[in-house]
Amino acid sequence: MQSRTFDLNTQAYKRNPYPTLARMVAQGPVVRVRFPWIGKLWMATSYEAASELLRDRERFVREPRSAGMPQRANLPWWFPRSMQPMAEVMINRDEPDHRRLRGLVEQAFLRRGVEQLRPRFDAIMRQLLDELEAKFRRDGHPIDLVAGLARPFPLAVICELLGLPSEDRPMFVKLAGAFSGSPSLFVLFRILGAIKSINAYIREQIRLCRANPRQGLISELIAAKQEDDRLTEDEMVAMVILLLLAGHMTTVHLIGAGIYTLLTHPAQKQSLLTDWSLVYSTVDELLRYLSPVQMTKPMMPAHDLEWYGQRLKRGDKIVALLAAANVDPQKFEDPDRFDIHRSPNPHMAFGAGIHVCLGLRLARAEAEIALEQLLTRFPKLELAIPPSQVKWSRQPGTRGMEALPVRLL
Ligand code: HEM
Repeated sequence: MQSRTFDLNTQAYKRNPYPTLARMVAQGPVVRVRFPWIGKLWMATSYEAASELLRDRERFVREPRSAGMPQRANLPWWFPRSMQPMAEVMINRDEPDHRRLRGLVEQAFLRRGVEQLRPRFDAIMRQLLDELEAKFRRDGHPIDLVAGLARPFPLAVICELLGLPSEDRPMFVKLAGAFSGSPSLFVLFRILGAIKSINAYIREQIRLCRANPRQGLISELIAAKQEDDRLTEDEMVAMVILLLLAGHMTTVHLIGAGIYTLLTHPAQKQSLLTDWSLVYSTVDELLRYLSPVQMTKPMMPAHDLEWYGQRLKRGDKIVALLAAANVDPQKFEDPDRFDIHRSPNPHMAFGAGIHVCLGLRLARAEAEIALEQLLTRFPKLELAIPPSQVKWSRQPGTRGMEALPVRLL
C-alpha cells in the first residue's frame, strides 16, 4: 500500500489541524503515513479503529517480544543501552508486567488523592499569578503565559507530588527545555543529556528518601508493596522519570492552548465566566478539541492480519491518532466546533485500554485551577498579538503553544 506524507508538525497544521485530519480520515480508518525521522507508520484515524487498537489485547501488543520479535527492537537507535530500564517503563509493556508496575504506582499515587492536594495546588497558582500581576503592573509589557504560568505550574505540581525539594525546580525548568524543538540530531543529543542528568538526580533523591522518608510519591513508591513484590531501584527511577515527563509537557500544552482557545472563542469564554459549573465540561471539550497528545505510542499486530481493509504485518508499528478520533464525525456532531456545553463528550484525549492516562484526574484538576484563577482574576484578559502570529510548539506528536503573550486586564 502506498504511503502518503502528512506533516503534522507545521505551524499551519498546529494552528488549524482539522482540514488535514479530515483528509486523513477520508483515506480510511487505517492509513499508512510517512514521518520525518520515524519513517513509515500505520495510523488508526477513526474513533472506532483507534479504540479497538488500544483495547484489543489479543491482536495488538506493545512489546516486540509479545509479537515474537527481539526485545531490543523497542529501543530507538539513538538510545544508549545503559538506559535500557527507561525503555522498560510500564507505558512500553504488555500484561502481566504492565499490571504489576501500574498496580504498584497506583497504590502510591492514590494514597494521597488529588482532592487532598488541591488546596496546595491552588496556593501554587495564586503565587504564580501574584508574581505575574506584579510584573505586568510594574513593566506594562505583555506577559508570556506559557513561560509564566503554563510551564511552571504543572512542573511545581509534579515536583510537589513526588516530594522533590522546591529549590530544585529551576534546574527542572532548564532540563525540561531540552525536550522542546523539532527533531534533529542536536535535539536528540540534548534530550539524551537531559535524561542522563534527570536519571542521576532521581537516583540520588531515592537514596535520600530511603535514608529519611519524606512526604511524597517517591517515599510512597519505596514503601509500595504487593504480595511481597516491590519495585526494583531501576524500575523506580524509570517510573519517576515517566511521571515527570508524562505529567509535565502534556499539561503545559492543555493549559497554554486551553487559554488561547478560550480567548479566541469569546462567547464560550463568557458562558464560562457566568457559570463556573461549566468548568468540568470546558476542560473536557478543550481536551477533545486540542488533543494535547496527538497520538499514542505505537502498538503492533501480534500476527499478520487484515484489518479495516489493510494488510498489517506482525510487528508493524501502528498508532492511534487521537487527534483524528476526537474529531470523528461518526462520533461527534459538528466536530470542528469548540463547544463547552458538549455533552456527552467521550473523547479519547487520555488514550484508552490498559494504558489510559494514569494522571488524568491530576491533569483535569490542574487545568480547572489554572482557568478558574486566571479568568476570575483577569476577566478581560486579552491576547497581545493577533492569533495568526501566535507560535505553536514544535514538539512532535503534541499540540500546544510555544508562547502566549497576553495583557493581564
Ligand atoms: C493534559 C494532560 C495529559 C494528557 C493529554 C495525557 C495523555 C495521555 C495519553 C494519551 C496516554 C496514553 C498513551 C499511550 O497509550 O501511548 C497517557 C498515559 C500516561 N500518562 Fe498521561 N496525559 C496527561 C497528563 C498526565 C499527568 C499529569 C500524569 C502524571 C502525573 C500522566 C501520567 C501518565 C502515565 C504514567 C501514563 C502511562 C500509563 C500506562 O502505561 O499505564 N499523564 N497520558
